[in-house]
Amino acid sequence: MQVGRKSCWRQLQASFFRLLCLIPTGFPVRSVDMQRATDNITIRQGDTAVIRCYVDDKVSKVAWLNRSNIIFAGQDKWSLDPRVDLVTKGQLEYSLRIQKVDVYDEGSYTCSIQTKQQPKTSQVYLIVQVPANIYKVSEDITVNEGSNVTLSCLASGRPDPAITWRLLNPSAEPLDGEEYLDISGIMRNQAGRYECKASNDVATPDVKYVNVVVNYPPTIKKTQSSETQVGRMGMLQCDATAVPTPEFEWYRDDKRLSNAQGINIQILGTTTILMIANVTEEDYGNYTCVASNRLGIQNASLFLYRPGTGRDINGSACVSQSLWLLLVCFACLFFKC
Ligand SMILES: *[C@@H]1O[C@H](CO)[C@@H](O)[C@H](O)[C@H]1NC(C)=O
Ligand SMILES: *[C@@H]1O[C@H](CO)[C@@H](O)[C@H](O)[C@H]1NC(C)=O
Ligand SMILES: *[C@@H]1O[C@H](CO)[C@@H](O)[C@H](O)[C@H]1NC(C)=O
Ligand SMILES: *[C@@H]1O[C@H](CO)[C@@H](O)[C@H](O)[C@H]1NC(C)=O
Ligand SMILES: *[C@@H]1O[C@H](CO)[C@@H](O)[C@H](O)[C@H]1NC(C)=O
Ligand SMILES: *[C@@H]1O[C@H](CO)[C@@H](O)[C@H](O)[C@H]1NC(C)=O
Repeated sequence: MQVGRKSCWRQLQASFFRLLCLIPTGFPVRSVDMQRATDNITIRQGDTAVIRCYVDDKVSKVAWLNRSNIIFAGQDKWSLDPRVDLVTKGQLEYSLRIQKVDVYDEGSYTCSIQTKQQPKTSQVYLIVQVPANIYKVSEDITVNEGSNVTLSCLASGRPDPAITWRLLNPSAEPLDGEEYLDISGIMRNQAGRYECKASNDVATPDVKYVNVVVNYPPTIKKTQSSETQVGRMGMLQCDATAVPTPEFEWYRDDKRLSNAQGINIQILGTTTILMIANVTEEDYGNYTCVASNRLGIQNASLFLYRPGTGRDINGSACVSQSLWLLLVCFACLFFKC
């Protein structure tokens, strides 16, 4: 019996029927009016689609088809899919509702109507969209300067999402890469937070981040020698750049200095300050600041000058202003004031 009905409906499908079709989509359901008999309807995965079909009272037979399969023949449901039902209003509406639309529902749907005079079909192409979703992204990494780095960002969605990368530094210019971002010979200024964005205009883009730490050996970029009178406090300062943060040591000629009577060593991140509480004649001379991390070591010479003999004092004889307040505090602790 079923076979007979199906082949009958296949023949009907080939004929032309008169109809007016309206399609509401979205969640909650919204209406999209269709002027033409065939059009594309886009709907987001998970939403409910109501593909409207209006008929008049002269109709003798109606049916809904998904591609070439009959879903409904009249009020008779042929599809086993529980998400599918009819929305009817008296004799005048014969609409198809699909709940929780999924990607495999994409395709053409046909409302077939047969009146005594003019049979007609109307086809609607249902396009199912899926918001961009990044399902895999590189873990945060720590590498040494000069390494070749590949960051990955894999995303799904319909249509296929476009993937773009940025390094979130002040310029944050787009980088040349898609699923994979290759950075060959990474430099220290390429460290930071990388943003991967997947967009396909279905919903707001999906964004994920990868933190990249670039290790490099210390470079002493600034030293501050000093001219100090006997009896006053002498200060020597040494600034290094390094990742990871460097360890510092101070030497007087070949002798390692430590916090002891009259000497105080302060380390503030990448800066170190040697304070000599009460400068004596013996304190004048050559000091060495050593910065090290597991990638390397560097040292620099500094001098504590007798007033009037100072040469090669970089910049002013004073410690940079930004550190002044901190130093006052340390000096205070140091002198127990
Ligand atoms: C429907 O979408 C297809 C591609 O999916 C396109 O080729 C066609 O032109 C569209 N038709 C209409 C009426 O928009
Ligand atoms: C439409 O047909 C496809 C392929 O046969 C099937 O996977 C899908 O579940 C059908 N959708 C509906 C709403 O009938
Ligand atoms: C990094 O890649 C370049 C080619 O892009 C290659 O010549 C070089 O040997 C690679 N370096 C390392 C450390 O793998
Ligand atoms: C500095 O040392 C000299 C000689 O050792 C001593 O007379 C003086 O009181 C000291 N000054 C301070 C501020 O400790
Ligand atoms: C200062 O000491 C360092 C390390 O001991 C040495 O390499 C450097 O030549 C000395 N500089 C002067 C001017 O004595
Ligand atoms: C400073 O570096 C030189 C070589 O760069 C090395 O010979 C010297 O021993 C170092 N001085 C200290 C105190 O580490």
